[in-house]
Amino acid sequence: MIQLSQTKVNKVSSSRLESVDFDNLPFGKVFSDHMLVLNYKDGKWDQGEITPFDHLRISPATLVFHYGQAIFEGMKAEKGPNGSVLMFRPMLNIRRFNKSAVRLAMPEIPENIFLDKLTELLDIDRNWVPTHEGASLYIRPFMYASDEFIGVQASKTYKFIIFTCPVGPYYANPVSVHIEDHYTRAVSGGTGFAKAAGNYAATLYPALLAKEKGFDQILWTDAAEHKYIQEIGTMNVFFIIDGKVVTPELNDCILNGTTRQTIIELFKSEGYTVEERPISKQEIFECYDKGILEDSFGAGTAAVIIPISKLSNGERVIELPSIESRKHSIAIKEKMISMKRGLIADPNNWIIKV
Ligand SMILES: Cc1ncc(COP(=O)(O)O)c(C=O)c1O
Repeated sequence: MIQLSQTKVNKVSSSRLESVDFDNLPFGKVFSDHMLVLNYKDGKWDQGEITPFDHLRISPATLVFHYGQAIFEGMKAEKGPNGSVLMFRPMLNIRRFNKSAVRLAMPEIPENIFLDKLTELLDIDRNWVPTHEGASLYIRPFMYASDEFIGVQASKTYKFIIFTCPVGPYYANPVSVHIEDHYTRAVSGGTGFAKAAGNYAATLYPALLAKEKGFDQILWTDAAEHKYIQEIGTMNVFFIIDGKVVTPELNDCILNGTTRQTIIELFKSEGYTVEERPISKQEIFECYDKGILEDSFGAGTAAVIIPISKLSNGERVIELPSIESRKHSIAIKEKMISMKRGLIADPNNWIIKV
């Protein structure tokens, strides 16, 4: 364990909380009062500072703008019974953040420091955690290369920042999804498994093209053959085929989703067969034709579990079963949400209280 040092704290003189309409929260546009900033220099992290949420002053020569050395995480905290603030499996995000850091040649943050500083920030902004059903506090940790230098090399200095936003649902409706045959999100040996900012930038143009064709999201396929399914832009993908839960097995092209992991564990604990294995596009359409494709949904922290209404590939478009019929995924979603809010037992100790 790395020794913790005291965070400097500089609180706002007056909170913006009163100006927030918690009944109509958009996603990602309302920011809590404070943020946490840690600086990495000379091979070590400083003690960090909690300051009012504010703009950063950055030189145009800052490395991240030019060579994209940036990573992030996405997590949520909920308001539990008695006003407690609950984090759900934060260590999964912290470990994934450090994996991303290693792949992008960035310094790791000791796990206990990450968790401790995050807890401190959540404690200071605990009144920003919404109580409304369907709303949460979204947590955005990120790190960027902060050297002021032009030249392709790993930065020697970094900033690690966490800010938070009270959010409503990410998607208002089920999503229609286009299975991509041309563009690629990740290749083996690349950064697909990391939460690297550049991974997302590369998906924006194909996503625009998919939108023009009338689809909300892209379901990525393998770069070599465009044969096997990988994941959706910000979610892992699941299918229920003939009563079995099926999801692509992890490889270095797929983000190891915390929601994916939780859903797999919850389904297994309910006695479902869960298969993590390669799934081809062809299999999906064949299962649909046989009438055994019962459900498909995306799973991620922001979206939670969102049903897929339509899938398309080439000329083919299939309409998936009615949302009301998807009893297995609806039940798992409700269980996961109740667990995150501390309303049902937490036998695995997944909750960490602030
Ligand atoms: C590319 C990608 N896949 C999957 C996920 C789901 O991961 P998690 O459940 O940890 O949010 C996300 C969201 O973080 C993502 O950006």
